[in-house]
Amino acid sequence: MDFKGQHILSTEQFDKDSLLALFEVAKEMEVVMESGGGDLLKGKVMASVFFEPSTRTRFSFEAAMQRLGGAVISNADMMSTSSIKKMETLEDTGKVLAQLADVLVVRHPEAGAVNKIATNSDVPVLNAGDGPAQHPTQGLLDLYTIWKEFGKIDGLTVGLIGDLKHSRVLHSEFDLLQYFDVEFVLVSPASLRLPQAVEGGDWNETEDIASVIERLDVISFNRLQKERFENPEECEALRGSFVLTTDLMAKAKEKSIVLNPLPRIDEIDVAVDADPRAKYFEQVKNGVAVRMALLKLVFGL
Ligand code: NCD
Repeated sequence: MDFKGQHILSTEQFDKDSLLALFEVAKEMEVVMESGGGDLLKGKVMASVFFEPSTRTRFSFEAAMQRLGGAVISNADMMSTSSIKKMETLEDTGKVLAQLADVLVVRHPEAGAVNKIATNSDVPVLNAGDGPAQHPTQGLLDLYTIWKEFGKIDGLTVGLIGDLKHSRVLHSEFDLLQYFDVEFVLVSPASLRLPQAVEGGDWNETEDIASVIERLDVISFNRLQKERFENPEECEALRGSFVLTTDLMAKAKEKSIVLNPLPRIDEIDVAVDADPRAKYFEQVKNGVAVRMALLKLVFGL
């Protein structure tokens, strides 16, 4: 895949070679960051267009742009402070923003909404999460973290754990990991199975993390996505049904790693943070390097 000038909307756009190429550039970007940043994107403007709450993703994209010398225009509350309030269509909003910036980074609570923004945009649109559907760049940084830690992805056993029904992060991680030779173990309450597994196929599924943790190289968690439940009471009834504790970590492989896109609510006990296998805060930093790499490649530089 050639990244230049592309919208990045879906995990389907990638292939194994383009992922590995991106990871090599991300590694170079870590060096750029450590040496005080660069000016590769000087004169370029990124618009952060967020219709849904974000801490990491928006700051991460903005930090990535600025560490490469680019500029940022940003609206973290598009839903209530943009012309969407006046019933402008997403297609028109996208067309307008493309006159103002060289790249758009968009998050929206509805699946497919970011594609609508991209419909009439002449500049690349990067999907920063569309409802429960996809979060491709979080998937990219999760895989980058795995690749960095193990020096490879092929041959690993990956546990995806938590709200597999609603977690766009785990959806994207699952899709991207399929470009590699990995064994999946899907761990969720029965009502929160991964949509891809519900559709069919022969997947290794369980509700009990304790019974599988010793087999996992990658222990990848995401919280209950309360805002995506039709009935929030159903979410609360499931609270506490998957929690990573130090007792469980005592059973995990010595060389395993624990991932979580964050925010962490209660699915990982804070006592696990001190375990060197917990990589979720390092993941945040890796995300900046991956987004620097993605911006570089999308601008064809
Ligand atoms: C995730 C998201 O927004 O989907 N957060 C993130 O981007 N780091 C995960 C989540 O909200 O649980």
